[in-house]
Amino acid sequence: MNTLTIRRPDDWHVHLRDGALLQTVAPATARQFGRAIVMPNLRPPITTAAAARDYRERIQAAVHAGGGEALAAAFTPLMTAYLTETLDPADLELGHCQGVLTAVKLYPAGATTNSDAGVRDLGAITPVLEALERIGMPLLIHGEVTDSAIDIFDREAVFIERVLDPLLRRHPGLKVVLEHITTSDAVDFVRTGPANLAATITPHHLHINRNALFAGGLRPDMYCLPVAKRELHRLALRAAATSGNPKFFLGTDSAPHERHAKESACGCAGIYNAPFALESYAAVFDAENALDRFEAFASEHGPRFYGLPLNDGTVTLERTPQTVPEHIDALVPFHAGETLNWQLV
Ligand code: NCD
Ligand code: ZN
Ligand code: ZN
Repeated sequence: MNTLTIRRPDDWHVHLRDGALLQTVAPATARQFGRAIVMPNLRPPITTAAAARDYRERIQAAVHAGGGEALAAAFTPLMTAYLTETLDPADLELGHCQGVLTAVKLYPAGATTNSDAGVRDLGAITPVLEALERIGMPLLIHGEVTDSAIDIFDREAVFIERVLDPLLRRHPGLKVVLEHITTSDAVDFVRTGPANLAATITPHHLHINRNALFAGGLRPDMYCLPVAKRELHRLALRAAATSGNPKFFLGTDSAPHERHAKESACGCAGIYNAPFALESYAAVFDAENALDRFEAFASEHGPRFYGLPLNDGTVTLERTPQTVPEHIDALVPFHAGETLNWQLV
């Protein structure tokens, strides 16, 4: 197979940032995807429907400025609200009904970039979870415990056991997406869990294991959260993504940080994969002899889980090698300097 035409795909987890960085990264995502679930972890975080509406306008303006009218018309940002212990369930519900807020994002406080305003006491958000459950609005979760006594490579598995499993039992009707899963524990938990539980998988967790962080020296461009795990976990993720199981779908977690912020004494977590995301995923499906399952993972499972229509139109990938640039403005893209065998036409 030398060309692959699929229904236009979506990215169910992306960080588009704000200001100057937004101008660079928003067009890159719009060139690859029809829609994208935009993470709310700005400073300050997006916590109201009004703030989400304003942010959506800034995103659309950035896509227009960087890619023109046609690109802006073809791309729809889907907005999320950042769950704090004081978030107003009525505002969420209204924002959801008005088509401004698609989902709500739960960051355990301290788990990742800009998560300090996140949740410390799950009990405090019970009214919000009840509202989400009632109206069918998805809860998206960064699934790691923040207890520094827990080994960083175990924080996802421990989160599932201590937090997620009890939460799903308390709210059996809640639609939950466990974001950017990194372990076989998460794969098993989602696979055997209820139909209202799904997961996104990033391209980088399909390509790298934790060795990539230390290959010949410390590699800040391979550092993200949840951190890449052992090879056995990467293999479990590849099997899940290419299995055809509708509980697993595409979410890049493209999370740009400028080079000076990555290459620092305390470097930021996040991998910028948006510009070559489809090519990166296609390489995995190709290597696993599963190109026939790529469309379902990229373009069907996500909208079906969210209860949204599938996109119209198609995109085509060609088997044409391309070398990923060493940097794009002040960002180092995932696969920098490598050759990818596929190219989005
Ligand atoms: C994300 C970011 O930089 O915003 N970083 C990351 O390593 N994935 C936050 C997140 O998704 O956890
Ligand atoms: Zn996260
Ligand atoms: Zn993320």
